Amino acid sequence: MTRTNNLEHSVPQKALITGITGQTGAYLAQHLLTQGYEVHGTSRAPETPSWRLKYLRIADKVTMHGMSGNTLSPFEKIVGHNFDSIFHLAAESSVANSLKHPSATVTANLWQTTSWLEVIKTQSPETRFFNALTSEVLKYQDTLLDETSECLATNPYAVTKLAAMQMARVFRDSFDLYVVNGLLFNHESELRDTRFVTAKIVVNLCALARDASLAPFELGNVLAERDFSHAEDFAKGIAASLDVSEPQDYVFASGQRRSVRGFFNETAKQLGFSPEWKGEGVETVCHDAVSGRLLVKTNPAFFRPVDEQGKKGNPARAMNTLNWQRQIGFEDMIARMIKFHQARLASV
Ligand code: GDD
Repeated sequence: MTRTNNLEHSVPQKALITGITGQTGAYLAQHLLTQGYEVHGTSRAPETPSWRLKYLRIADKVTMHGMSGNTLSPFEKIVGHNFDSIFHLAAESSVANSLKHPSATVTANLWQTTSWLEVIKTQSPETRFFNALTSEVLKYQDTLLDETSECLATNPYAVTKLAAMQMARVFRDSFDLYVVNGLLFNHESELRDTRFVTAKIVVNLCALARDASLAPFELGNVLAERDFSHAEDFAKGIAASLDVSEPQDYVFASGQRRSVRGFFNETAKQLGFSPEWKGEGVETVCHDAVSGRLLVKTNPAFFRPVDEQGKKGNPARAMNTLNWQRQIGFEDMIARMIKFHQARLASV
């Protein structure tokens, strides 16, 4: 099938977001609503309002569908609503959790993706499909990584995402579906869950800054490096990736690598601390140089058996083809996260 025109939005587009209650799903819903889309989402508990959608003031603007069970029938029922686009973001997205629950990760990440693709193929082949993937499927190199870089998976999460990427390509190439894989490097925000290191750091440092009697908190490998962006920027790129004539894969990244320690230091400084690190490995600690207060200790439980080396992504294709630009820089992202968590702590 040759597709020559971009989507023309003369009639409202109808989009489904799986994982709409998660960080990126919520920002994507907000963005699509501003673009005039009719937005639907899936959830295991559709009657329970999502705090993220409520925070963005869009909970009453989206239509929710329940999603449970292990057959194709809920997929068939939902795809029967004839969506122009399905943005598939629902996943087990924590590397640490995937190490604890590998088979559940296969179901959540590979089986679900394949089910959407299979049902779209048979029931609604014009529906465009975005498949959320990760930099974890790319093999480490010291250069900028792009859509053509070599792949390697070193944990269950990455294995399932790598297989899901190949599966999506099979459906694109063999069945001529409009399928896009998004290779998302780390994306953070005020809506980030505290299972992830950035939100954990911001929440804990905000609490320490508020209460001088609080005990230090614990981190794992603070020398780990990641390529961090704000999830709201990625949401805009994800939306645009289904809005061009031909489907292809895109890297979304900042192109810059920062350490967890660097993220901690910037957050601590914005909160008025003067972080000073001492020790190595599990002996690593950080004090506030002015007060001498211990801010953070190391707990080996937070180390990973294999921790991915810091990669950085090259978003040139997304910038050139989708006209995508990051708008929220590293320091501003942290400032937004701090503001959100300070307000939340003040309201408790
Ligand atoms: N979670 C966590 N908790 N990570 C810690 C901690 C801690 O206390 N201390 C150090 N780290 C290190 C981890 O070892 C890792 O190197 C880094 O912080 C980031 O960990 P996470 O925030 O859990 O994110 P991630 O990089 O493993 O995965 C995230 O980014 C991927 C894209 O690169 C997730 O969002 C994935 O879903 C996503 O695909």
